[in-house]
Amino acid sequence: MRSAIYPGSFDPVTLGHWDLIQRAAKLVDRLVVAVLHNPAKSPAFSVDERVAMLKELTAAMPHVEVTTFHGLLVDFAKAQNAQFIIRGVRAFSDFEYEFQMALMNRKLAPELETVFLMPKEKYSAVSSRFVREIGSMGGNLADLVPELLRERIVARLGKAE
Ligand code: PNS
Repeated sequence: MRSAIYPGSFDPVTLGHWDLIQRAAKLVDRLVVAVLHNPAKSPAFSVDERVAMLKELTAAMPHVEVTTFHGLLVDFAKAQNAQFIIRGVRAFSDFEYEFQMALMNRKLAPELETVFLMPKEKYSAVSSRFVREIGSMGGNLADLVPELLRERIVARLGKAE
């Protein structure tokens, strides 16, 4: 069985993430969307909220699971019997960090392959950071986050300011 992990912070999930999930889901038998549990950061959405939103979004995709992880990604991937790590690259600016992370993960676990996918061009500037910033200033999130979750995201980010 081909299994892949799609790891990230997803704070909150964007249309770029959603595009990637749909692309990755076509490539494997089992896709695990894994939300990093990072106690050092103070997120806009709790890990449980992020997992709940991703689960709602992927509810019609039986081979997509959503969970959390902490510690090293490669250890989590191995525990999940995954062969692939999925990462999105939107622009050249993503490339250096992603390249270094992929090489370091390969050093730690040579059997795991990182697979880079490109979201649709129109999402190349979409990031969770911009969503948080725009949302907190009352900007329009219509083309940035999934419709299903928009109200919730707008309500939270609007209060965050
Ligand atoms: O969505 P993000 O915040 O860009 O995702 C980054 C993530 C979660 C993939 C990365 O920070 C990660 O894998 N963290 C787990 C710790 C780890 O394995 N670090 C070594 C990376 S070489």
